[in-house]
Amino acid sequence: MGQPIAHSRSPFIHSYFARQTRQLLEYKAMAPAVDHFEPDVMQFFNSGGKGLNVTLPFKERAYLMAQQVSYRVSFACAANTLWMEEGRLCADNTDGVGLIADCEYLQIPITGQSILILGAGGAVRGVLAPLIEQAPEEIFIANRTEDKVFSLINQIKMTHKATQQLKLGGGSLHHPRLLSSFDVVINATSAAIKGEDMTYPTQIFSENTYAYDMSYGTQLTPFLTQAKQSNVKKYHDGLGMLIEQAAESFYLWRHCRPNTIELREILRQVISERQ
Ligand code: ATR
Repeated sequence: MGQPIAHSRSPFIHSYFARQTRQLLEYKAMAPAVDHFEPDVMQFFNSGGKGLNVTLPFKERAYLMAQQVSYRVSFACAANTLWMEEGRLCADNTDGVGLIADCEYLQIPITGQSILILGAGGAVRGVLAPLIEQAPEEIFIANRTEDKVFSLINQIKMTHKATQQLKLGGGSLHHPRLLSSFDVVINATSAAIKGEDMTYPTQIFSENTYAYDMSYGTQLTPFLTQAKQSNVKKYHDGLGMLIEQAAESFYLWRHCRPNTIELREILRQVISERQ
């Protein structure tokens, strides 16, 4: 469920997972009216629906509706996966697991590394707790609007004890820490989606840096173009994260884990053909 939903790749992804794991299921895109999301969710489950993915603009409302949530959902204040268990509506947010699984596949090291996150919006809320749980040495969050970073950092420090072992800092996109490089730089801003420019010091990149953009498309994003020009070690978009977060949702609903490797190539192909 999302609004708009026509662009969603999820029906393709989950139908692929279902065929691969021989699960009998039908996964369809639905676009509830904005003021009708909650009744539509209940109607879906009351009529025998087993699991829902939720995307913009309903992720926060999905979280608020749920009767049982994990820490990662309550920190994110947003859910992308719903299901029923013993009559209770359960919610999870699989974005962070998706990012970590993709980094593992791409051999992007997180543990013991210095990580820069660009952005402090919903996308960052969704991945911050799982990233911290990988025990990096440092996480620095840089955002155009500095205040948002400070409230995010205060909140995670108060609620997550893994932050005690972590060098956790933040500031604007022009903070002096950005004048030296990081091991991993993750772009979680919506600048490119909105077609806007984003400025930051290119010293964040070195030849040892892994650059990761949580968005994806047929062409390199401006962030990845900049990373490439800065001769980083490797750069990747977020298509693998999309697939891995879907695999985690599938696992939550069906208790079986699909293989995501082949789908990476297939989906890349589908996206380039449909442009
Ligand atoms: P999402 O759910 O995709 O994270 P969001 O909550 O609206 O969406 O957050 C968007 C993020 O992209 C924010 O961190 C935003 O910065 P601000 O907090 O300053 O708004 C960042 N962003 C969007 N456009 C940007 C731009 N042109 N330059 C830099 N950062 C930008």
